[in-house]
Amino acid sequence: MSDNTANLTVGGDSKDYAIMDGTVGPQVIDVRKLYANTGMFTYDPGFTSTASCESGLTYIDGDEGVLLHRGYPIGQLAEESSFMEVCYLLLNGELPSKKELADFTNTITRHTMVHEQLSAFFRGFRRDAHPMAIMVGVVGALSAFYHDSTDINDPEQRRIASHRLIAKMPTIAAMAYKYSVGQPFVYPRNDLSYTANFLRMTFSVPAEDYIPDPVIVDAMDKIFILHADHEQNASTSTVRLAGSSGANPFACIAAGIACLWGPAHGGANEAALNMLREIGTVDRIPEYIARAKNKDDPFRLMGFGHRVYKNYDPRATVMQKTAKDVLEKLGVNDPVFDVAKELEQIALNDPYFVEKKLYPNVDFYSGVILSAIGFPTEMFTVLFALARTVGWVAQWNEMISDPAQKIGRPRQLYTGPTQRDYVPVDKR
Ligand code: SDX
Repeated sequence: MSDNTANLTVGGDSKDYAIMDGTVGPQVIDVRKLYANTGMFTYDPGFTSTASCESGLTYIDGDEGVLLHRGYPIGQLAEESSFMEVCYLLLNGELPSKKELADFTNTITRHTMVHEQLSAFFRGFRRDAHPMAIMVGVVGALSAFYHDSTDINDPEQRRIASHRLIAKMPTIAAMAYKYSVGQPFVYPRNDLSYTANFLRMTFSVPAEDYIPDPVIVDAMDKIFILHADHEQNASTSTVRLAGSSGANPFACIAAGIACLWGPAHGGANEAALNMLREIGTVDRIPEYIARAKNKDDPFRLMGFGHRVYKNYDPRATVMQKTAKDVLEKLGVNDPVFDVAKELEQIALNDPYFVEKKLYPNVDFYSGVILSAIGFPTEMFTVLFALARTVGWVAQWNEMISDPAQKIGRPRQLYTGPTQRDYVPVDKR
């Protein structure tokens, strides 16, 4: 193998394949001609060794526990930036000037209202519908209301659709919560920040307005930043695959929401808090550690482990500190937080977790904070979807602008029956 090609010999026929370099991170072997050259496919279920695209948005070094958005470390963005600024950064590639940020924030603010007819959609759901079921349905329906921003070949329509999605997700998420608790929907207000607006739409009632506490607004904004984007995770890959067929942006984001809902992915934050509550007290932790290590038990420590991070998820570090700050400032003494911290310590010193490089991920502590703020567990993945919308939208735009992009159409290793003739039912 020369330094910029990989050589593969199949059936005595030897071919070189180009090795491509990124700016940082693993190189890739360009196998686009492999099938034409060999009549063979690569085989990689779960895509553990497969790069599906070229991207300049987010970079993760799983061994070092590094997460960069357009080159900026997540810890610095969480401490120094705002979610609106991170949205601008992901969409445009550079941090905004003061004026650019003000103009962007103003644009997003003026897209926060939803078509009044959309509220009729909610009436069709049972009040006890899971809010993620509502999100999938309502976000997918947005294309029925915003026809003027569904032409993916028109950059201006893509821009408007991107802003509409980022702006309207908090409004729809708050409506999903209000519907579930039987309270009236609360309209957005243009004099509030993105995150304060969302908190007010969620917790304000006609009988008493909700004045967002700056401590909670700051914590919520940090949580949004921590969830904004994360390379080609399952839901982002879903959005890209849907978008590769030319589907409209609202349908693509609805597909991403559906995928995120899974407990192995974004649904883990709800599952993690439910697990911590089920454990209940520190003395019951060994029982659950044993279950997590038992191959015959499907139980896994929710909020632990990651396909890419084989070190501490840097988002979990910020999340644990934010949880401590919020609980202290709110004067909340949640025993679940003590269970979480003790569980983490025990797991990080257990050979099973050490050998398998299983660390807390972004979902392990987020539920403690969200619960302290007042969200029911069913809303946790909705909040993840709200924050991840900017990442999905930025990745979708990047895919459409990529000259190399084609409709995604993986192949397979076929292991079914070879051709056989139909047998009429009276001869079977
Ligand atoms: C997110 O991809 C992303 O970037 C996702 C995300 C994002 O921002 O978009 O970071 C958000 O989805 C975070 C992950 C949230 N999910 C959970 O917390 C659910 C619990 N975690 C696991 O289900 C699991 O760790 C995954 C799904 C996250 C990762 O699974 P992989 O990479 O497919 O690894 P694996 O299932 O092959 O596990 C490797 C080994 C296995 O043991 P062996 O078969 O090799 O003996 O580790 C074990 C697993 O059994 N293992 C666990 C475990 N996670 C993995 N054992 C106990 N508890 C766990 N949590």
